[in-house]
Amino acid sequence: MTTLLEARNVTKVYGGGFLSKETNVALDNFSLTIEDGNPSVTVIAGESGSGKTTIANLLLDVIHPSAGEIRYRDKNLAHMSPAEHRTFRREVQAIFQDPFEAYNPFHKVDRVLRMPLRKFGLASGEAEQRKIIHEALELVGLRPEETLGRYPHQLSGGQRQRVMVARALVLHPRIIIADEPVSMVDASLRATILESLLRLNRELGISLIYITHDLTTAYQVGQSIFVLYRGSVTELGDVELVIKHPQHPYTRLLVESIPLADPARRWGEGTISITAEEENHATGPGCKFLGRCRHAMPICGEQSVPTFRTDDLRGVACFLHQDAPVMVDGDAATVLSQLARRSQVGSHAKTPSRKEEREE
Ligand SMILES: Nc1ncnc2c1ncn2[C@@H]1O[C@H](COP(=O)(O)OP(=O)(O)OP(=O)(O)O)[C@@H](O)[C@H]1O
Ligand SMILES: [Mg+2]
Repeated sequence: MTTLLEARNVTKVYGGGFLSKETNVALDNFSLTIEDGNPSVTVIAGESGSGKTTIANLLLDVIHPSAGEIRYRDKNLAHMSPAEHRTFRREVQAIFQDPFEAYNPFHKVDRVLRMPLRKFGLASGEAEQRKIIHEALELVGLRPEETLGRYPHQLSGGQRQRVMVARALVLHPRIIIADEPVSMVDASLRATILESLLRLNRELGISLIYITHDLTTAYQVGQSIFVLYRGSVTELGDVELVIKHPQHPYTRLLVESIPLADPARRWGEGTISITAEEENHATGPGCKFLGRCRHAMPICGEQSVPTFRTDDLRGVACFLHQDAPVMVDGDAATVLSQLARRSQVGSHAKTPSRKEEREE
């Protein structure tokens, strides 16, 4: 199996330049692999400021790593030829949180669908362009005759976001990176938009990287999950294992903070807050969660935490699990690959995570 998109030990540090001496490690030693021919749904989850959008921007080549590298089709993005980079820009598409930002209010929505086709010269004439656009709209559950010819404000938020998915689709991408695609959308529409994204994965073989701070939708759509805390991955692997039986104290705190009555409540609201003293711990050599951890041991503040492979399909960056083998480069990729393959074999119907289920 060849690798499509890969982040290899990527770190992103902001600041420390001419204007500001203070540095901020937005992402620390992050690795991710998306294989070709093995369509996957990978979730990147974490609270506000944990580094999710930083990962999206790095994978899209909008910003560049401070250390490590991003590779597409086994080529470092930084060393691609213009032709290779063009293929990358067509095959890796993004959907962002606020679809309104992508629209010019003075142009009909048709334009956002036509522009990418023109830019990449993908339609040979008007008729073909029309056909591609109609197909893409239908794939995301929109009727072309009710969508085309309208101005952005004449569509609902859910429709605008679906047009964004269609815009990504007209380019026949291999990967869609969706950064909080449903957080601005009415709760009742979230499920249908996520379902149309999942169809693209199942029917068109497009790999999805779904970025969210909503643990409930993470659980519903994902095969694998990376949980981020202040730029570091705390736990990764099978979404079912990680959310139903979390092992990292931070993931446990997150899962417990989903209230029973309102599983759609977002992380960081209410129960989770950080004090100045806890913040200080985050800058030491050890675990960034140390100041908030009930299980903290001396070793946690002394050295950086490796990721321990606590079972076949999961890794946990916590010394509570130091008896398990340390994950080495490539192990996480193997876990993701196994999960993507497993999902293709069986159907993956899941219900939202609730406390009752966790206490089975
Ligand atoms: N251009 C920038 N310059 C300096 N710091 C930045 C910049 N962009 C992001 N950061 C910092 O990097 C960290 C991670 O930010 P990021 O936007 O990736 O978080 P996030 O997980 O996407 O949060 P949210 O859920 O609020 O969107 C934050 O501490 C943020 O302040
Ligand atoms: Mg973000």
